[in-house]
Formats: sequence, C-alpha cells, structure tokens
Amino acid sequence: MIDRRAMLGATVALTAAPMALHAAGKAKPFNPAFPKGFLWGTATAAHQVEGNNTSSDVWFLEHQKPTVYAEPSGDAANSFLLWEQDLDLVKSLGLNTYRFSLEWARIEPEQGLFSIAMLDHYKAMIEGCHARGITPVVTFNHFTTPRWFAALGGWHGDDAPALFARYCDRAARHLAGGIAYATTLNEPNLSGKLGELLPGDLLGADKEMVEAAAKALGVALYQPGNPLYTPDGARTQRHLLEGHRLGRAAIKAVRSDLPVGVSLAMLDEQAAPGLPKGAVSLRDAKREHFYGEWLRLAKTDCDFLGIQNYERSVWTDKGKLPNPSGAVTNTMGAEVYPPSLAGVARYAHAQTNLPIMVTEHGVGSEHDEIRANLIPAALTELKKAMDDGVPVIGYCHWSLIDNYEWVFGYRIRFGLCELDRATFKRTPKPSAGVLGRIARANSV
Ligand code: BGC
Repeated sequence: MIDRRAMLGATVALTAAPMALHAAGKAKPFNPAFPKGFLWGTATAAHQVEGNNTSSDVWFLEHQKPTVYAEPSGDAANSFLLWEQDLDLVKSLGLNTYRFSLEWARIEPEQGLFSIAMLDHYKAMIEGCHARGITPVVTFNHFTTPRWFAALGGWHGDDAPALFARYCDRAARHLAGGIAYATTLNEPNLSGKLGELLPGDLLGADKEMVEAAAKALGVALYQPGNPLYTPDGARTQRHLLEGHRLGRAAIKAVRSDLPVGVSLAMLDEQAAPGLPKGAVSLRDAKREHFYGEWLRLAKTDCDFLGIQNYERSVWTDKGKLPNPSGAVTNTMGAEVYPPSLAGVARYAHAQTNLPIMVTEHGVGSEHDEIRANLIPAALTELKKAMDDGVPVIGYCHWSLIDNYEWVFGYRIRFGLCELDRATFKRTPKPSAGVLGRIARANSV
C-alpha cells in the first residue's frame, strides 16, 4: 500500500528545497521555463498498442506451450486501426510530439518480402502527425522482430546486422522524408542481460519456451528481438552494436540530415555513501557492464542519445541497497525516485557529449497520483540539469495509454490514459492533465 502522506510530503520537500536554499542565499533561483521548441511528448511501441501483430516473434511465443507471457497481446489497444484517435489524443493532451515504432514484422512479414501497404500505413501516421502539428519521433525497431528473423536465431545470427540494415534502408526510402528524429533500436544495451534485472527465475522458463518454439518450427535456435535467454550474450551484443551502425548508415544514406540515435535503458546508478575505508562501490563496474560499449559507440555513431529511465540503483561494494524505508514504490515494488531521470541525463551527456532526448520515462502503477507527482518532480530536476549545461531536446512520457507490458501482460499500467480493453475507449487520467499543463506552459 502507498503511504499517500509520505508521498505528498516528499513532493512538497522537493519543490520547496530550491526556494529555501535561495532564501539562504546559497543557490540561484530555479528557472522553471523550458527552452523554446522543447519537445513534449508521449511514447508507445507497435507491439504493445497495435494489436494482432501476428507475424512477430513475440506473438508466436505468447502462444507457445509453455510460455512466460502472462497473457497474449491480442488486440492490444487496437492502435493499428485507431492510430488517428491516438494522434488526436496526443494533441488534445497539449503535447507536441509522439514517439512510436515501425513494426518490422508487418513491413517485412517474410524474409525479403516488403509490404508497400504497411509502409503506407506508417507514412499515413507520419503525415497524420504533421497535419496535427505533432513532431514524429520514430523508432525503427522496438524489441519485436519478424518471426522468420527469430527463427534464423535473431540477433545471435551472423546475418542479423545486414538483414536489419536492409529493412532500415527500405523503410527509410519510404518514410524518412517525414520523420523528425529516428532511433534504430530500443534498449539494445539490456539484450541478453534482462535476466539479471527481472525478478524471480524467468530465465529457466524462458529457455524452455524458446526451445519449444524452435522445435515447433524445426530450427536450431529461436531467439526473439529482446531475448531473456540467449546462448551467447556477448555475440548478441556484438551483432546489435553492428546492427545499429549499419542501420543508422542505411537511414543516413537516404537522408543525411535526419538525426538518428539509439535509445538506451539507463538506471541512475549511484555509489552508496559512507562505505567503510577501502571499500569500492560496484557502481562504476555496473555502469561499464550495462552502458559502456553503447555510450562509446554513441559518441561516434549517433546524432543524439535517447535515454529511458524508470529507477535508480544504489550500490555498495557488495551489491544493491534495498529501497529506503518509506519509499514510494511502483507495482513491481521498486522505489519511485524522481531525480533519477536527471541523474541519467547528466551521466549520459557527460559520457557522450551528445544532445539528449528522453525517449521514455514513467512509472508502472495503478495509482495515478504517483505518476502525477512524479512528472513535475522529475522535470524540475531535469530542468536543473539543463541549466547546468545538459542539452535536452525533449521529454516523451511512457506511455500514452495503458498497454501490453510484455511478459507481465496488461497488469502493469504505465498509461497517461486508461484503456477499456473491450471498447478500446481511451480516458485521460489526472497525470495526463499534469503533463499537458506543463507542456502548454513550456514550464514546470
Ligand atoms: C520499454 C517499453 C516498456 C517500458 C516499461 C521500456 O523498457 O522500452 O517497451 O513497456 O520500459 O517497462
């Protein structure tokens, strides 16, 4: 249960602190105004909202026996048909940006077979954004890959980077003209490392599921785009890094002035204070493990860096500290810590010197007041980081609507809007009003 008083207290403390310091003459006054042209948006991903993504790797796994998916994605939010409603919703909330993903499994449902009709569908979405004054931020691949790609071993396979680049080339030739910002891959840095972060022993069950899928298709390895189990994590990572490089090059070859980046999942990794003399926090080792290679690649092969943050981790020399007592928590029991987003923005920029776009930030919770409090508190800290010199282009809240949260099914809710799964009606929650007011005012 959430202690609402504790939470309100925390929010008040956060917003009151700068003024108190200012009164004591110790800090410059906080400037709540964001720069002109700041992108205020919300994010979704194809498989999680479109519904009936039947040619995808994940759809096939949802229907395996055994499966680790709590329930199938089914119709999701029916956004494949209702995308115009979604764009109207983005606009009506007062936002000026929409991050969504192209579904590779629809565009190339069989190897080498590209669907012009599906490319036209995404073209209409991009044009629909422009018609409403919404900036389209387009992810070329958000986890799901075509089933045939997974049956070739997914990102484990040697041809994976070239196959991805061919898809990027084809999609870019049809769509790049209207895209404002593009990202290649979503959170590739965690691929093959998710087992270390998710609760419980999903890994063993996941292996059984993908083995059943491989058997059903008569192939050696079925590896989905965002694998939990992988026979060789280092090889999968190598191919993803190369996939980003080649994919970005293919997009830039079509439109060299289109900014292309990658979105990384980043926790605000912190060193626990007060360690005994000689003890070294695991923080730096964790940073290297989860982000090192990608941040180095980003320096040379990205025009901007997308950051996706939901949490912080505080590391001693032995492991991760538990939540502080009285912490506000999300549905999964992790601490909701508003300054984590700014912490990540500062670190990501310091490491890469790139402009930063918040391509995801949010909270999985059925208690919308947690979301409504998180948004202004996190944005206040983000603005302070910007005032300290971190160039942030925009903020996309995850997510527009409650949607399919992968293995957890529909139970975990990230939406600014509630979804009625029977009628597909979208209903804005109070947090949507909070973000919309900030966006309209361009000030937190
Ligand atoms: C992913 C989304 C996911 C969200 C919330 C991110 O890791 O990009 O697909 O739904 O976090 O867990």
